[in-house]
Amino acid sequence: MTTSVRTEAEARPLGRLFRLPGVYRPQEDTALLSSVLTADTRIGCGMRCADLGTGSGALAIALARTGAAVVAADISLRALASAWLNTVLRALPIGLVRGGLQETAEAGPYDVVVANPPYVPSPTPTVRSTRAWDAGPDGRAMLDPLCAAAPSLLARDGALYLVQSTMSDVDKTRFALAAGGLRSEVLARAEVPFGPVVSGRLEYLTERGFVRPGDRTEELVVLRAAR
Ligand SMILES: C[S@@+](CC[C@H](N)C(=O)[O-])C[C@H]1O[C@@H](n2cnc3c(N)ncnc32)[C@H](O)[C@@H]1O
Repeated sequence: MTTSVRTEAEARPLGRLFRLPGVYRPQEDTALLSSVLTADTRIGCGMRCADLGTGSGALAIALARTGAAVVAADISLRALASAWLNTVLRALPIGLVRGGLQETAEAGPYDVVVANPPYVPSPTPTVRSTRAWDAGPDGRAMLDPLCAAAPSLLARDGALYLVQSTMSDVDKTRFALAAGGLRSEVLARAEVPFGPVVSGRLEYLTERGFVRPGDRTEELVVLRAAR
């Protein structure tokens, strides 16, 4: 399946979500992964799911609407409070976990794990205000640990659904998943204009070869990985 999500207006099926200051605004990556989750008939009632780095809870809500039992995890208390309110307003029962991979794994294993992790390469150390998108010098600060932990997060027939930019090396993600015995497939792609974060560091990204001179768009990719 190839999906194209070009504008925030087209991402509206996510609906209006409450966000405390500093919580990630659902964007094209959120919308692309959400559309995949909603369309994938392999996800549904009775499944045990986790949304790693839930932010405002957009993906947890997409999962819960399928009838699945969902754990939403985030390192940010403001994100968890926002996700809690958004799920309560929709009468969707969701468990909340403060933390990252380890804390999420403790409540597992899961039939489905979804993640829209931070993946933007950054010239400066990640701080609290940038941790929703900054992911170290190569954009893989969370992707690499996630790939390494994926086999232990997943039940025997479980699957990981992940969205990232090609800027942060999709092939590397697929090799890392394969090293853990997980076979991956591309479920969706979308070409989207650079947002303010990428636009604000184009010089660094171009110098390091993450984008080509003159580029104004990046490709988002949704992967599904399973044993
Ligand atoms: C790109 S945002 C995605 C938010 C939401 N899932 C969405 O798609 O709109 C990444 C989220 O991961 C969270 N995060 C960053 N580092 C984390 C970590 N080490 N453990 C857990 N969550 C983390 C951030 O607080 C942020 O909410």
